[in-house]
Amino acid sequence: MSTRDTAFKAMQNLAKQNPLKLTELFAGDPDRTAKMTLEQSGIIADFSKQRLDDAALAALFDLAKACDLSGWRSKLFSGAKINTSEDRAVLHPALRGVGGDDDVKAAVSTMRSRMADYADKIRSEGRFKSIVHVGIGGSDLGPRLIADAFLATAEQALELRFAENVDGASINDALEGLDPATTLVIVVSKSFGTQETKMNGDAARDWLGEHSGSNMIAVSANNQGAQDFGIAPENIFDFWDWVGGRYSVWSAVGLSLQIAYGPDLFEDFLAGAAEMDAHFRDAEFDKNLPVMMALTGIWNRNGLGYTSQAVIPYARRLRKLSAFLQQLEMESNGKSKGRDGTDAGTTCPIIWGDEGTNGQHAFFQWLHQGTPGAPVDFVAVAEDHSGRPDHHRALLANCFAQSEALMVGKSESLVREEMKGDANIDGLAPQKAFPGNRPSTTLLLDNLSPRTVGALIALYEHKTFVQGIIWGVNSFDQWGVQLGKVLAGTILSELEGGAPQSHDSSTAALIKRVLG
Ligand code: F6P
Repeated sequence: MSTRDTAFKAMQNLAKQNPLKLTELFAGDPDRTAKMTLEQSGIIADFSKQRLDDAALAALFDLAKACDLSGWRSKLFSGAKINTSEDRAVLHPALRGVGGDDDVKAAVSTMRSRMADYADKIRSEGRFKSIVHVGIGGSDLGPRLIADAFLATAEQALELRFAENVDGASINDALEGLDPATTLVIVVSKSFGTQETKMNGDAARDWLGEHSGSNMIAVSANNQGAQDFGIAPENIFDFWDWVGGRYSVWSAVGLSLQIAYGPDLFEDFLAGAAEMDAHFRDAEFDKNLPVMMALTGIWNRNGLGYTSQAVIPYARRLRKLSAFLQQLEMESNGKSKGRDGTDAGTTCPIIWGDEGTNGQHAFFQWLHQGTPGAPVDFVAVAEDHSGRPDHHRALLANCFAQSEALMVGKSESLVREEMKGDANIDGLAPQKAFPGNRPSTTLLLDNLSPRTVGALIALYEHKTFVQGIIWGVNSFDQWGVQLGKVLAGTILSELEGGAPQSHDSSTAALIKRVLG
C-alpha cells in the first residue's frame, strides 16, 4: 500500500472507531472555539462545530503530507503543467498577481490595463446605458455572483444583464426593454465553441442590427474563434488556456463587472484574492484556511460518509454562491478516475444550497431530521449593507441559531419532559426530537467589500484544489461534459428534420413525440 493509501485508511479507521460527539468536545475543552477558529483577509472561519478532535486533525495533516500537498501547491504557483490531461498550467492566481513567470506577469498586467482603460472609456463616454453579458458556466456564474455581491457596496453605472441558457427565454429576458443603440453586448466564451453562447450571441447580433459592429465585443481564449464569429480583432479581449473557465472571473471574463462597477472595485476584488493566495501559499497547514476547509470536507466525505455539502449564504448579495460552487467544486472534482486513470474512490460530494433564511422554510427540515443530513457551510456577514439593522440582526440570529440547533439537537427525553401528560407522547416525542451532532463551519465575513468577497472566492478555489490533490484527480479538466454535447448535436439535427438516428427506445419516443 502506498504512503498515501495508508494515511487515507488510517484517517478513515479513526473516523469509524471514534464517533465524536460535538457537545462533549465543547464540554471537554473551554478553548475549543478559539483553537479551531482561523482568521484571514476579513474572514473568520469557525471549525469548532465540526466533528474533529486533535487525533482527527493529526490524521488529516498526515494525509495531506502523504499526498505531497506542499509540492503540489508549489507546482500550482510556479506554473507547472498540473492539468496533465490537457497539458496546461493552472495559473488563475497569476491573474491576481500571485505566481507565474515574468512572461505571464507581463501578459496579465497588459490585459489588466487594457480592461481598465476600456472600462473607463465606456463609463466616461456615456454612450451605453446597459450591458448584456452572454456566456455560460464559467463564463457566466462568476460574473453573475460577483455582480450581485458588488451591489452591497456600490451601484452599477450601467445596467448589467446576463443571458446564458440556450432556452430562448434567456436572451429574450436579457434584451427585453433595452435599446440596441445604447446596449453593449459582451460575448464571453473561453473556447468560442459553446452552442448556448453562440446561439445567444447570434440572437443578440440580430437584435443589435445596424449597431452590431460597434456594440458587440468578445472575451475569449480562442481569438480566431471570436473573429470567425464576426467580432473585429480590436474588439476581442483575450485570456489564456492556463485559466480554467470556472476560475476565470478574475480575467477579462470579468470585464462586464469592470464596466458596470468601475476598475477600482475590480482591482480591490483581485487584491482580496491575492491576499488569500499568499496565505494559502505560505501558511502552515494547521493555520491555513483553505487547507483546513478542504481537510474538514475530506473528513466529512471520506471519514464520516456524508454524501453532500450544503452552502448557505446568509446574505442575499451572495445568493448565487452555491450555484457558483457547484461548478467550481463539482466540475473540478466530480470524477471517479485519478490522474493516472485508476479508480479514485469516493470524491466530491454534491454541493448544494440556497440563501438563508429562505432555505429554513424549505430544506432545513431535512438538514435537522433527515437522513443522513449534510455538513453545512454557513456564510454570514457581520456588517449590515442593507440599511436595515433590525433585519440584519434577525438574519444573523437565524444563521447562528441554525448551526447551534444542528449541533445541540434536542433529546427525546427533554421532549418527553415537555410533553408530560400528553396522550400522544409515545408517537409524537420521537418525531419532535432532534438528533444533533450535525457538523457545520461558520464563515463570518467582516463585510461584503469587493476585497473580502475576492478572498472568499479564492478561499473556495484553493479548498477545491487541495481536495483534488487528496483525491488524486485532475481538478482542471471536465471530460464528463462532452458526451451529452455530442449526443445533443445528433438529436438537434433530427429535430431540425435530418434523418433519424439510432437511439434507445425512450430517447427515440421523446424525439418522435416532439416531431409529431
Ligand atoms: O460545458 C462545460 C464548460 O466547458 C465549462 O467548463 C465552461 O465554463 C463552460 O462550458 C463554458 O465554456 P466556454 O467559456 O468555452 O463557452
